[in-house]
Amino acid sequence: MGNTVIELKGVSKRFGDYDALINVSLTVSEGALLTLLGPSGCGKTTCLRLIAGITAPDEGEIWLNEELAAGPARSLPPEQRRVGMVFQDYALFPHLSVADNVAFGLRGSRAEKRARVAELLALVGLQGLESQMPYLLSGGQQQRVALARALAPEPDILLLDEPFSNLDTALRVQVRGEVREILRRTGKTAVFVTHDQEEALSLSDRVAVIFDGRLHQVGTPEQIYNQPASAQVAAFVGEANFLPADASGARASSPLGELALIKPMRGEVRVLIRPERVHLDTHGEGVLGEVLWREYYGSRQRIAVSLPDASTLIASTDTQISVERGDRVKVSVFGPLLAFSAVESTVPLPQ
Ligand SMILES: Nc1ncnc2c1ncn2[C@@H]1O[C@H](COP(=O)(O)OP(=O)(O)OP(=O)(O)O)[C@@H](O)[C@H]1O
Ligand SMILES: [Mg+2]
Repeated sequence: MGNTVIELKGVSKRFGDYDALINVSLTVSEGALLTLLGPSGCGKTTCLRLIAGITAPDEGEIWLNEELAAGPARSLPPEQRRVGMVFQDYALFPHLSVADNVAFGLRGSRAEKRARVAELLALVGLQGLESQMPYLLSGGQQQRVALARALAPEPDILLLDEPFSNLDTALRVQVRGEVREILRRTGKTAVFVTHDQEEALSLSDRVAVIFDGRLHQVGTPEQIYNQPASAQVAAFVGEANFLPADASGARASSPLGELALIKPMRGEVRVLIRPERVHLDTHGEGVLGEVLWREYYGSRQRIAVSLPDASTLIASTDTQISVERGDRVKVSVFGPLLAFSAVESTVPLPQ
């Protein structure tokens, strides 16, 4: 990846005595898509508003294209930041046509504007809808108009605040794929906000996990999922089992027997076991467990099993294996696994 386009250095923001963001530092390189992932109220929108210049930080600095945009003695106005924003509710102007919505931030002659609007509508797949009014469009079409409007003044940076949350599941998957493709084609640097972990993992180059106003981890989707920095991050991103175990270096003894650990640990730990790492078998190797319940999803199923020590594990398996409540199954896990100290794992997990 290229140059750093966005950099937050130790940024804090308070509302009254409430700390919305605490000492957040992160960078986004040119053409990359960074997702801010976190529960409601964790400070995601605040972070976008700080980058856009709608709000000023209390502490720290924001650098855009290697220029200081916000700091103790400086605040570049929003219109000079070359940042476009797509809001969660699209915020289209209801009394303006599609073309006038898209042209809103444009300068130049009427002919120039018309040409640019046509170009943008083609980019987002809405050719010929210039004179349509927003209320006659579907949710997905309105979303694309909002994207075209944000792209119109040719910003370097695009900020997208939960842009797909008003769309139903099928449309959401389609539109987010399209938006990703448009961002790639136009080479924009983007910061995207969601509280949907699947969306964050599937769409991003890098994911920043935020809760309680703090940045807990930044990394590729694989790093965030497979090497979470804490038990809290592990629990927030994807489903997590935490199996109690006693660690002695690279191994831990657990209700599933001896497990190999990725990082050496000592003492009482909780071993992170993702449900797809749990293997269930009606015969064969493993510790004997009992099926507590099963949820069937067609392509996959979730099965809860209780182990001899009464701990419960949730498995996510294909639908080859057919079991019911009360059945006995052999339980084993694919290692090596990550463990966290038992003390850390008792900290309340983010909702
Ligand atoms: N202008 C404001 N005045 C007072 N409090 C604010 C203001 N803006 C945000 N807050 C508070 O700061 C916290 C973070 O808000 P923010 O909107 O950034 O959260 P969010 O992560 O975007 O949440 P959501 O997922 O619900 O959109 C919230 O507790 C919110 O109530
Ligand atoms: Mg928000």
